[in-house]
This record gives sequence, C-alpha cells and structure tokens, in this order.
Amino acid sequence: MNHQTIEKLLDLSGKTAVVTGGASGIGKAVALRLAQAGADVTIADVDEAGALETCKTAQAEGGKAQAIFADVRSRADAARACEAAAGRLGRLDILVNNAGIYPALPVLNLTDDVWESVMGINLRGALVFSQAAAQHMIKAGNGGKIINMVSLEALHPVVMHSHYSASKAGLVMLTKSLALELAPHKIAVNAIAPGVIWTPGLDRQLRGFYEPAGMTADQLLQATVYPRVPAGRLGEPDDVARVALFLASEAADYITGDVIVVDGGYLLT
Ligand SMILES: NC(=O)c1ccc[n+]([C@@H]2O[C@H](COP(=O)([O-])OP(=O)(O)OC[C@H]3O[C@@H](n4cnc5c(N)ncnc54)[C@H](O)[C@@H]3O)[C@@H](O)[C@H]2O)c1
Repeated sequence: MNHQTIEKLLDLSGKTAVVTGGASGIGKAVALRLAQAGADVTIADVDEAGALETCKTAQAEGGKAQAIFADVRSRADAARACEAAAGRLGRLDILVNNAGIYPALPVLNLTDDVWESVMGINLRGALVFSQAAAQHMIKAGNGGKIINMVSLEALHPVVMHSHYSASKAGLVMLTKSLALELAPHKIAVNAIAPGVIWTPGLDRQLRGFYEPAGMTADQLLQATVYPRVPAGRLGEPDDVARVALFLASEAADYITGDVIVVDGGYLLT
C-alpha cells in the first residue's frame, strides 16, 4: 500500500501544464490552482494581455507561469504553445482544454458561421491541442493528464444552446475516445462538466438579457438560475479549479474517460 501524504498527492512540482483560455474565468482559476500546486503553467489564450495578467498573479503568489498567444483553432498555435510549455522542463504533463465560447441563438436561427465557430473552438480546438500535447507526453514517457472543460449542457439541453450543447456532448465522447487510445501511454483523459459559474464570459452573455429587461445580473439570476441550484448559489471559478487540480494530480491516477459534474446539484432538479 502506498500511503503518500495528501500534500504529496496534490503536489505538481516538477511538472508542466498548458491551460487554454487561461486569461479569464474558469481557465484563470485553473491556471492559478495548478501554479499554486507547483506546476509550471503555460497560459494560452487569444487574449494575450489577459493571459499575462493571470501569469503575473500566479507569479505574485509564488508560482511559475508564462503567457502565450494561441488560438485553439490553429494547429500551428497548438504546436507552439505545447512546445513552449515542454521547453520549460523538457516534459509536458498536464493539458487543460478550457477555451470555449457559448453564444445564445434559437436553433431555427442558427447560422453556419455560429455553428462552425462553436465547433471549431469548443470541439476541434480541444482535439488539436490534445494531439499536440499527447505527442510531447508520449515522447517524455511520463504519462500525463488531459482535462476537457465540457458543461452540464453536454448532458442536459438548454434553450438557445443547441450548437453549444452539441459541441460539449461531442467533447465528452472525444474525451472517452482519447482516454481509450492514450491509456497505453499512461495518459488519463477526463472531463469536467461545470454548472452555472459566474465568470466574465457569462456576465457578457447574460448582459444581453438583463440590460434590455432593466434588471441587474443578480435579479435575472434570482429569477431564473438560483431556484434551479440546490446548493443555493452560483458556482465560482475556483469550485471548478479545485476539481481540475484533483484530476491533474496523482490522487486521480486511476480515473480516465470520466466526466465529473460540478454544478451544485443543478442536474438533480
Ligand atoms: N461559466 C459557465 O457557467 C460555464 C459553464 C459550463 C462550462 N463552461 C465552460 O468553461 C470554459 C470557460 O468558460 P468561462 O465562463 O470561464 O469563459 P470566459 O469567456 O470568461 O473565458 C474564456 C476564455 O477563453 C478564451 N478563448 C476564447 N476563444 C478562444 C480561442 N479561439 N483560442 C484561445 N482562447 C480562446 C477567451 O479569450 C477567454 O479568456 C468554456 O469552455 C465554457 O464553455 C462555462
């Protein structure tokens, strides 16, 4: 029996990580948690200034981090970001595919452009980064962890989000397929399905609903979301980041191909 201390189980010292979409919201919280646990974190985002902010915060808290411009739609950017991360310590251990968009549109008004940008970022982006990261993980021979940010909407439809739900449901099956094919290389691949998490991205989207209605964000949420959440509150980015830390750590070594729902009980109602 291996009785490692809790601290050791969650310790990511000597490991490197890439977090896509780490400039804001959930990705930022994940990057900060991984850096706090000792990982050398590469924050890859189209928002370079935001990525740099996350990087500075991680460093101010004593962590190691670097920011890099990367659009998850680009294979070249994925290769560059993973190379930059692996170059730090000669290995890549953790990839968090978090970058995502969630525009709202009724299914009958859905355009090819919106469908393709949501699929391109949320689903293909995760594939492209996983392929690039897995090559480094396999080469280094230390195994690895890939964590895909899906959504409760991968499991439960929400109006005006058919395209988003389809992209995240697709990412659940991509998670399982990657888990199956990468298991021989000791790479575990899992997904986290957050519920409603208060982030800059969510605020931007809800503003299109609460401002025209003359409401505050909180009034809209009180009327619509809070009654659906048994926990009685919205999620915070760190609620998700702590689960990402667990999945990235040795504590989760025997979990692969799974989806952990972090929704305060939303799916129970
Ligand atoms: N907030 C929620 O309630 C919620 C719930 C379930 C799932 N999620 C998922 O969590 C993830 C993060 O969501 P958030 O609410 O923190 O969003 P956010 O908008 O606050 O942050 C998303 C980040 O992704 C980056 N990004 C967008 N497109 C990109 C691209 N093409 N390449 C690289 N980076 C890109 C943005 O610049 C931003 O920094 C998304 O995948 C989202 O679908 C969010």
